[in-house]
Amino acid sequence: MAYAAFRSIGAYVPSKILSNEDLSKMVDTSDEWITKRTGIKERHIAASDEFTSDMGAKAATLAIERSGLDKSEIDMVVCATISPDYFCMPSTATIISTKLGLGNVTAFDISAACTGFVYVLSIAKAFIEAGMKKNVLIIGAEKLSAITDYSDRGTCILFGDGAGAAVISATENKEEAIIDIHTGADGKFADLLMTPDGGSGSAHDTLEQEASSCFMQMKGNETFKVAVKTLTKDVIDILRENNIQSADIKHFVPHQANLRIIKAVGDALKLKDEQVVLTVAKYGNTSGASIPMAINDIYESGKLQAGELMLLDAFGGGLTWGSALVPFSPLK
Ligand code: COA
Repeated sequence: MAYAAFRSIGAYVPSKILSNEDLSKMVDTSDEWITKRTGIKERHIAASDEFTSDMGAKAATLAIERSGLDKSEIDMVVCATISPDYFCMPSTATIISTKLGLGNVTAFDISAACTGFVYVLSIAKAFIEAGMKKNVLIIGAEKLSAITDYSDRGTCILFGDGAGAAVISATENKEEAIIDIHTGADGKFADLLMTPDGGSGSAHDTLEQEASSCFMQMKGNETFKVAVKTLTKDVIDILRENNIQSADIKHFVPHQANLRIIKAVGDALKLKDEQVVLTVAKYGNTSGASIPMAINDIYESGKLQAGELMLLDAFGGGLTWGSALVPFSPLK
């Protein structure tokens, strides 16, 4: 039987920084409020001519280089994004594949908001274990600034842009394989976090369409409470089901939405500070890109070594959630 191994990581962060100080000149907020309630100090914003696919392609280029594989060996590309280059088609994954010169591959996007990277990881694992694909490039890429209302202080302080990517490959060695992945969703919480306009669900006459924006809207406080409850249960469950102790986790890599959510889940698992990967202060919430960007951070700073176990967890619009137990298993 084929197993799926997490071979490599890459990320891209656009150069422009939007600080809390900058935001306090745009809406009624302050660095003190944002820092205290979210842990975010700044976020990066893509240039106007820099698209989600551009950022995804840059992250993916690094991930492929670091995988030790030739790009011709990639046979599937899956991109998690809620800010695709084009809302209906083509998919951002197909655009990225072409930018990378991958030729004929299976390519598609998935929409699971901030849980997107855990979802694409589960898709890669399933295709590989079924024997249908051998080397899957998974990407989380977001230009959230394109769907953020910069007059809404409840959301605009949270989000940033960026991309991360990983190569997942078939292996016969169970020791280096992804151990388990949980994914879940519950549409009864759909209105907590959504982009109400721009889709076929918008209330407008389709024959006389008005220009509509596609901005995110969020009930932050309710989202916060459901996030803490759901994530805590999910990570406790995945550890128990796989007979793994919190102390065995080398790197807890949570979705970087809010420092208080991360701390609440980390405390529930009794994790030490050095086990918890934090990038929320410098990148804010980059939705589907946040987990691979955080993994890339520990990789580039030399903290992520072969064989070390990561626990990923994420939560987002849908609502969706997920967690994964992933050993880092580079080929080189
Ligand atoms: N600056 C200053 N004040 C703000 C503010 C801002 N940017 N945003 C909201 N406020 C105000 C509110 O208007 C409210 O004022 P009031 O008490 O006079 O009515 C007060 O701060 C408290 O608002 P509340 O929404 O209860 O704050 P909170 O502690 O829940 O923090 C979030 C707000 C958005 C930071 C927090 O709810 C959060 O992070 N939620 C989860 C977000 C998330 O993770 N979303 C993505 C899922 S992937």
